[in-house]
Amino acid sequence: MKSKQRLYANLLALFKKLPPSVIALLLQFAAFALTLLSARLSGLQPHPLVFALLCGLLAMTFSRLVGLAGWWLPIQLLFAPALVLALALDIPPNFFLAAFLILLVVYWSTFRTQVPLYLSSHKVWRALEGFLPQPGTNFRFIDLGSGLGGVLTHLADARPDGQYAGVESAPLPFLWSCLRIKLGGYRNCNVQWGSIWDDSLGICDLAQYDVVFAYLSPVPMERLWRKARAEMRPGTLFISSTFTVPDQAPQQKIQVNDLHRSTLLIWRM
Ligand SMILES: C[S@@+](CC[C@H](N)C(=O)[O-])C[C@H]1O[C@@H](n2cnc3c(N)ncnc32)[C@H](O)[C@@H]1O
Repeated sequence: MKSKQRLYANLLALFKKLPPSVIALLLQFAAFALTLLSARLSGLQPHPLVFALLCGLLAMTFSRLVGLAGWWLPIQLLFAPALVLALALDIPPNFFLAAFLILLVVYWSTFRTQVPLYLSSHKVWRALEGFLPQPGTNFRFIDLGSGLGGVLTHLADARPDGQYAGVESAPLPFLWSCLRIKLGGYRNCNVQWGSIWDDSLGICDLAQYDVVFAYLSPVPMERLWRKARAEMRPGTLFISSTFTVPDQAPQQKIQVNDLHRSTLLIWRM
């Protein structure tokens, strides 16, 4: 009996370790199976849209029970009905393939990293200028998850005396930033395709940088803080836009007057 309980507990722990997107999909399958079973047992043949709505209601309830974030609930409710409506529109399958491929190259592993592409504002870029070391110090700056490369090229324009690096995991933003750097003639900018957690990429060793900037999401902040503490040199700056580190109050906060009301959180190592 106890070994069964332990098995359930282990399975539950394993389930909770999955990325939320995978959990959401598994719950959709569970809701579909349960709705199908109920329909078979009751002998009812509901209209496909009613069937899909029942699936959605169940998936939403399961999602709430397992503690998925609130914004998943409407997605879970509407996913199956949206599928039925899309099928009724008779859209050519190539449209979905094309949409999938575009989303794939833009967002890549977001389902796992939980860090999508969204861009920091020009006002954030300008605020960052104030944290670059004094002219003549031959400093190095890195943007972890550099998106379309806007932070790097802006700072390289404003302070051509620095060296600017970026690392980006999504293919299209990476290619975009490479073109931006090449066509703009920025010789002091360099972007690498890969993950910020990949220690085999020399560019990700934070000991090389005077300023480390990240605009990611709440999910990786604790791990990123551990990496920054382990690698960054004393006196260098770690700046996170918007997302703080759990239990680590920043030494300085700068409120940026942009559309997202961004905040720059600054730690001197
Ligand atoms: C919120 S965007 C910020 C883009 C840019 N730094 C800016 O401020 O405009 C975060 C970027 O980090 C990338 N990213 C997420 N996880 C990553 C990882 N583990 N390694 C490298 N890039 C990552 C995403 O693909 C996305 O382009």
